[in-house]
Amino acid sequence: MKFFIDTANLDQIREANELGILDGVTTNPSLMAKEGITGQDRILKHYVDICEIVDGDVSAEVIATDFDGIVAEGEKLSALHEQIVVKVPMIRNGVKALKYFSDKGIRTNCTLVFSPGQALLAAKAGADYVSPFIGRIDDISTDGLLLISEIRQIFDNYGFKTQILAASIRHTMHIIECAKLGADVATCPLKPILDLLRHPLTDIGLEKFLADHKKQ
Ligand code: G3P
Repeated sequence: MKFFIDTANLDQIREANELGILDGVTTNPSLMAKEGITGQDRILKHYVDICEIVDGDVSAEVIATDFDGIVAEGEKLSALHEQIVVKVPMIRNGVKALKYFSDKGIRTNCTLVFSPGQALLAAKAGADYVSPFIGRIDDISTDGLLLISEIRQIFDNYGFKTQILAASIRHTMHIIECAKLGADVATCPLKPILDLLRHPLTDIGLEKFLADHKKQ
């Protein structure tokens, strides 16, 4: 399973990258705003800065919701850097744009996916990634992980190449369960990635090894 970091914070992207486990980055307009990145020029430059830190795919989201606007914005984002994947919302014009981009060889990530039917449409339209938001489904007392397993089954039934990019991940168990269910990618904030490191028996064991070593 690939690990993407879900942030526009350059320090956190560097930290995850330095750990040696980072395969890519996802951003969205809320994450960009959280870092105070506003204005088109600054936003575009920020995407290039991210691409220069990480080797893998970097999702950059369109703001337009009309077909022509999505296409124009997506083409501009895609031309910024070869690592850019155009993030398109799961709306009617978004599906049309996914097909348009797919025909032109522009890579896409279909975002705001909350049902198996939406994922199926995105795959049929040729999306490279589909992003089910599992944490936000859990937030409304429904099983977000069930959606991952349903999409996995559908994609496997028909051999869709679209990668399942589990998003809206809140904690380590989301990551583990996504790995068990066969998600292709988990995009996570830095904290749950680092939380995977922790185990009290590791700390206790290491403390004892180092104490015993000192006795020699
Ligand atoms: O990048 C989209 C997604 O991961 C958002 O997560 O925590 O805002 O639901 P969250």
